[in-house]
Amino acid sequence: MSILIKNGRVIDPANKIDAILDVFIENNKISKVAKNINSSADTVIDASNKIVAPGIIDMHVHLREPGREDKETVATATLAAAKGGVTTVLAMPNTQPAMDCPENVRLLQEIIRKDAKVNVLICGTITKGRLGKELSDIAALKKSGVYAISDDGCSVDSDELMFAALKKAKQAGLLTICHSEDKKLSGKGVINLGFNSTRLGLRGIANESEYKRVRRDVELAKNAASAVHIAHVSCRESVEIITEAKKTGIKVTCETAPHYFTLTEDALLGYDTNMKMNPPLRNIEDLIAIKQGLKDGSIDVIASDHAPHTENEKDIEFERAEFGVVGLETELSVSITELINKQVLDWPGLITRLCLNPARILGLDKGRLTAGSFADVVIISDQQSWTVDKPALVSKSKNSPFFGRCLKGLVDYTICNGTIAYQR
Ligand code: DOR
Ligand code: ZN
Repeated sequence: MSILIKNGRVIDPANKIDAILDVFIENNKISKVAKNINSSADTVIDASNKIVAPGIIDMHVHLREPGREDKETVATATLAAAKGGVTTVLAMPNTQPAMDCPENVRLLQEIIRKDAKVNVLICGTITKGRLGKELSDIAALKKSGVYAISDDGCSVDSDELMFAALKKAKQAGLLTICHSEDKKLSGKGVINLGFNSTRLGLRGIANESEYKRVRRDVELAKNAASAVHIAHVSCRESVEIITEAKKTGIKVTCETAPHYFTLTEDALLGYDTNMKMNPPLRNIEDLIAIKQGLKDGSIDVIASDHAPHTENEKDIEFERAEFGVVGLETELSVSITELINKQVLDWPGLITRLCLNPARILGLDKGRLTAGSFADVVIISDQQSWTVDKPALVSKSKNSPFFGRCLKGLVDYTICNGTIAYQR
């Protein structure tokens, strides 16, 4: 099987390429990136006026399988991923059962082998059952094939346990991903603490519940001489702490999600539960800081935090609705609309944050179009617009915060391991 992609604007920051070129794919691998390739191919794709880039690596995705197949499955989430230009996802471990031991990891690996339409990597838990009481067998998890550990959805409250986890993760050669939230401070909050929480009569979540825990997690990483990755950064102070930590050589990286650089707490004024996620949408100063962090590189990665929930769990009173939004199908278009078209990032900058940096952070031989590497490629019509609505989404759950938005950029092809996984 061979694919020849002709005349696209090839953007591959790892190899400092941004030029009109052809890409030749053979036997699942990138074979050649050059001008005027004339090799014959099984499939020839005309990519004139289109962007050709490495497939997106989304390092924060909730697949919900095993356990909550009513929300999403490996099959439906990876279909949504392919439609969104995503060729690799890191599956968060808050499944039922949680990914806290090799047996459970093997169960999911079996489902992935059968059903996945793109690459799925598994994240194990830091603690057993994500309960924050006892460490998972981190070395055994590594052996079973996980790519990182996280208790995402929860933070490990105990400093001692978190320090021990960082040490063990370092020994095992695993990345630790922190959901940085001090529950004692966020409590029963459901939206950002501020004018709107008072006006709406909803309990608030202060920035400090996030950034104080970010500060702790960074400090522990420094003491353990271990790498740490902060998930879903939403507020200004977190960006500042991470920026300063990077300057002193602490091995900290972080991600934000498209909703944090697009929406503010004002989106909550209609009590729309599709705007409810954890951490919550913050205010305009936070949004500006997130954009600035993306621009100056303090924020390394854009990840969706794709968190599907059923209509029964969302279409209810605000306080009772689940936290989380879907994002696999909109992350690229929202990024083009809000970052490229508003001149926050240029194309190489965006591809670095969506593809190259996640690969580097997770230690993957991906995120670039180097000859010999697996052919994960996305072809994008960046000038095409579309409006987000329910029928447009293939994800099993439809809890998107972007309904009604006109976005720029449509995926024409997603090629995963040299095979067309999605074609518009
Ligand atoms: O909004 C969220 N949803 N935040 C999290 O940390 C967890 C996630 C989920 O699993 O639904
Ligand atoms: Zn999450």
